[in-house]
Amino acid sequence: MRCIGWQEGRVWLLDQTALPLSCVKLEYSAPSDLAAAIRMMKIRGAPAIGVAAAYGLALTAYHSTASNREDFLRELRETSQLLRGTRPTAVNLFWAIDRMLAVAEGERNLESMRNLLISTAIRIQDEDEERCRRIGEGGSALIPDGVGVLTHCNTGALATGGFGTALGVILTAHSKGKRIHVYVDETRPALQGARLTAWELKGAGIPMTLISDNMAGHFMKEKKVQLVIVGADRIALNGDTANKIGTYSLSVLAGAHGIPFYVAAPSSTIDFRISSGDSIPIEERSPKEVVEIGGIRIAPEDIPVANPAFDVTPAENITAIITEEGIHYPPFAKSLSGVAANA
Ligand code: MRU
Repeated sequence: MRCIGWQEGRVWLLDQTALPLSCVKLEYSAPSDLAAAIRMMKIRGAPAIGVAAAYGLALTAYHSTASNREDFLRELRETSQLLRGTRPTAVNLFWAIDRMLAVAEGERNLESMRNLLISTAIRIQDEDEERCRRIGEGGSALIPDGVGVLTHCNTGALATGGFGTALGVILTAHSKGKRIHVYVDETRPALQGARLTAWELKGAGIPMTLISDNMAGHFMKEKKVQLVIVGADRIALNGDTANKIGTYSLSVLAGAHGIPFYVAAPSSTIDFRISSGDSIPIEERSPKEVVEIGGIRIAPEDIPVANPAFDVTPAENITAIITEEGIHYPPFAKSLSGVAANA
């Protein structure tokens, strides 16, 4: 399944704010509208955001009326600025924009630039799906038969170019006949677990139990959960990993119960410019997401509210990081350096 795609000068996407109650396909031809969709989380998940950003630049290339290379590049840089301002934490967004701009800048002919930008955006999505499948294949070796697996947020086909990262590992292990029971954290406040992961797992026929986030420790203590696997929005060179808020607490719980804690992500999620998680910008979202559920206010008016969308799990809490290049164990500064060479 894919949640986004390119169709003759338009980008279509599955509205993830409407799922699972309704399946709404949206179409965009203006990069500014696509940027707004990213900000509103109609498309979300680090690799999918990267794909969407690439398509945003492909839209600019397709619809541009610029008659010379300089004007064309200026339009692309303007769209890049707009896209860079949408969501700050997932590095895939910046990675995809940089790759698209480098492609444009390396080409002299206007028509070739246009065609190359569109084909590169499509390639970014195809490559991401391929990377996810390799992550699934490699990571499935870490899933023993007959285990309870806890996951957080949504890391499936909806969050990527296709197939998924942590959820891709679960799907692959299931398809190999391993008996798995997935504990799905609902993932407050935006409920990606309850709305999206539960929907994907149900579609795949994988046994699951939806739990609220504060139940995770209980199920670990009850020995229902034997491993945790999550995705990532940005991984620093030392292995510190930003992911959906609540991931850090899960890593501490997993450590306290002696449960392995795995991170699955494509190499496009590794930020090769930062040495630790201290440099990762954490997105602060609207307080409305916390004080409302389904548009209904659940907290008193006029109270202070915090809504960081991500937290950083320190490398020492992570058992292994799974990328398309293989399974990387600590020390990550050493094991991830091989990925850098291939990215
Ligand atoms: O705010 P979101 O829904 O974009 O956050 C998504 C996550 O935190 C995912 O775990 C991460 O992007 C990995 S998706 C393969």
